[in-house]
Amino acid sequence: MRAHFRRKYQLSENPKDINHLRSVGGKVSLPRELSKIIHPDTKTKDDSFNLLSAFQGLSFGTAVLTGRKHSRTNVFLFGTAPQKALCMTAAETVADGKLEARKGAQGAGVRKRGVDGRVRSFEEIPHTGRSGWVNLVRFWREGCFTQLHKHMERTFNALGPIYREHVGTHRSVNIMMPSDIGELFRSEGLHPQRMTLQPWATHRETRQHSKGIFLKNGEEWRADRLLLNKEVMMSAAVKRFLPLLDEVARDFCQMLQARVEREGRREAGKRSLTIDPSPDLFRFALEASCHVLYGERIGLFSSSPSLESQKFIWAVERMLATTPPLLYLPHRLLLRIGAPLWTQHAAAWDHIFSHADARIKRGYQRLSSFQGQGSEARAAGGQYTGVLGQLMEKGQLSLDLIKANITELMAGGVDTTAVPLQFSLFELGRNPEVQERVRQQVRTSWAQAGGDPQKALQGAPLLKGTIKEILRLYPVGITVQRMPIKDIVLQNYHVPAGTMVHICLYPLGRSAEVFEDPQRFDPGRWSSSREEGQRAEGLGFRSLAFGFGARQCVGRRIAENEMQLLLMHILLSFHISVSSSEDIKTTYTLILQPETPPRITFSKL
Ligand code: HEM
Repeated sequence: MRAHFRRKYQLSENPKDINHLRSVGGKVSLPRELSKIIHPDTKTKDDSFNLLSAFQGLSFGTAVLTGRKHSRTNVFLFGTAPQKALCMTAAETVADGKLEARKGAQGAGVRKRGVDGRVRSFEEIPHTGRSGWVNLVRFWREGCFTQLHKHMERTFNALGPIYREHVGTHRSVNIMMPSDIGELFRSEGLHPQRMTLQPWATHRETRQHSKGIFLKNGEEWRADRLLLNKEVMMSAAVKRFLPLLDEVARDFCQMLQARVEREGRREAGKRSLTIDPSPDLFRFALEASCHVLYGERIGLFSSSPSLESQKFIWAVERMLATTPPLLYLPHRLLLRIGAPLWTQHAAAWDHIFSHADARIKRGYQRLSSFQGQGSEARAAGGQYTGVLGQLMEKGQLSLDLIKANITELMAGGVDTTAVPLQFSLFELGRNPEVQERVRQQVRTSWAQAGGDPQKALQGAPLLKGTIKEILRLYPVGITVQRMPIKDIVLQNYHVPAGTMVHICLYPLGRSAEVFEDPQRFDPGRWSSSREEGQRAEGLGFRSLAFGFGARQCVGRRIAENEMQLLLMHILLSFHISVSSSEDIKTTYTLILQPETPPRITFSKL
C-alpha cells in the first residue's frame, strides 16, 4: 500500500526522505502553514493538517489531490522568501538525463544541444516534479510560497537556465537568460498576454465590476491601454504630473525634518532619529499617487490623517497577501463554500473599491465645479485635475472603465513604490560611499536646475541608477510572464505557442553570468556608456522590473519619478545610516518585501 502510494505521488523510496507525504488514515496531511493560509484566523493545534478540512463543508475525492484532471493553464506570478532546502528532488525529477541537467547548472548561460544537434522536445525540459499536487504539498511544507524567489534561484542552480514547474493548478516554463528573454518578447505579438490573476478577475466578475487594463486582454486591452498611455506614460503627461509628485516629496521631507527636530537626539553636532520609516513611506506613496490621479492632496501628512486612507493601505496589503495561495488553489470552489481565505480576499477588494469609488465621486464633483473653464485656463490657474480629470474631460473611456482603471492605478500605486523605497534607504544607508556619490551629483544638479524637478532628475543619472539597481536586487514583482503567440526555441528546447513562460527576475538580477559582481550595490553600473557596451555584447534585457514593451507597467513613469524625487529630497536634507550591514531578509507576498522593515537613522545635514 505504501509503495503504491509512493509511486502514485512520485515519492522517494526512502521513507526518511523529507519530501515524502505523510499518510494518516488514508488522508493526506499538510502542515500548519496551509491551514493558516486557508483559514488565516484559525489556530491549529499541531503541525499536521488535513487538506480536505480546508474546504469547509465540502467533500471530494482524491482525484483533486492527484491532479488527474488538471488544466494546462499556467501560473505563478511574483514570489519570494527564505527557505531551508531546495523545494524539489532534482535527482528524481529531471527527465531524461539528470546528470546533464546538473552539469548545466555550472554553465547556466550555455545552451544545451541534443547529442545529434537537434532541437529538444518540450518534455525534455528539466522539471521539478510531474505531479502538481505533490509539488503543491512540497511547496507548502518547505515554505516555498514565501520564498519563491529563492526557490527559483536554487532551481536554476540545480537544473540549469530553463526548467518546467507544475504546482497545484499552475504550470510554467521558467527562464532567466537575456538571450531567451529577448526571444520570448519577440514573439509576444500585438496583444501581449501575461498570466491572469484569476482571483482578481473572479472578484470583478462576482461583483459585476468592469475590468481595468491589468485584467484585460486582446483588442479591448489595447484600446484602453492606448488611452491611458496618453495620461500617464507620454512625456507631456509626465511634465504635467511631475510638479505634483515633487510637492509631495518636499512635504514628506519637511515632515521628517520636523520629526527629527522634535524626537531626535543630538549626536556629534547633528540631530538624528532612528525609525522604521515604512508606515510613512506607505502614506507617502498613497498621497503621491492620489495627487496625480485626482489632482488634489488627500492630507496624509496632516496631524490627523484620515483613518479611511489608512484602512485603504491595510486593505491593499491584505489583498496582496491573500493572492498567492489563491493562485494555486481552486479559488472558485473556495468562493462557493465561503472559505475564509476567499472571504478575506474579496473583502479587501471590496474595501479598495468602495474607497476608490468615494474618491472618484469627490473628484467628479470637484470637476463639475470647474465646468465651463477650458483645460488650459485651469492649467494656468494651477488646476491640473489629475488623470481622472483628463480622462473625464476627453470622454473616450466610459465612466465604468474610468472607475475600473483609476481603482487599479490606486491599488497598484502604494506597495509597489513604498517597498523599493525601503530597500533604497537600506542600501544607501549601508553603502555610505555610494550614498555620498549620489548626493554630490544630486546637489550639483539641484543647484543648476533652479527648482525645476525634471531638470534636477535629468542632471542626476545616479538617482535613476539607484532605482534600477534596487529593482535589480529586489524586484517588486519577481517574474514577468508572457505567452508566446508562435512556437519558439529556448535553450534549444521547443516551447509551443501558448505556453506560459516566466522570466525570473530575482535569479536574473543576481546572476554572475549576467552582472559583474552581482551582489554589489552599484548604481553606476547603469550609466549609459556602460549600458551601451553591454547591449553591444548582446546583454540587453537585463532591467525588466517594469516589464517590457506595449504591456509594460503603465504606472512606470509615476513610480520612477515618485521614487527618484523622494530620494533626491531626502539626500539633500539627511545623511542616512543603518546599524547593521547584514543582508536584509526578504519575503514574498505577491510582491517582494523585507521580512522586517529596516530601521533607518536620519541625521540632519
Ligand atoms: C516600482 C514600482 C513598480 C513596479 C516594479 C511595477 C511592475 C509592474 C510589472 C512587472 C508589470 C507587468 C508588466 C508586463 O507584463 O510587462 C506591471 C503592470 C502594471 N502596473 Fe506596475 N509596477 C510598479 C508601479 C506601479 C504603479 C505606481 C502603478 C499605478 C500608478 C502601477 C500599475 C500597473 C498596471 C495598471 C499594470 C498593468 C498594465 C497592463 O497590463 O497593460 N504599477 N507593473
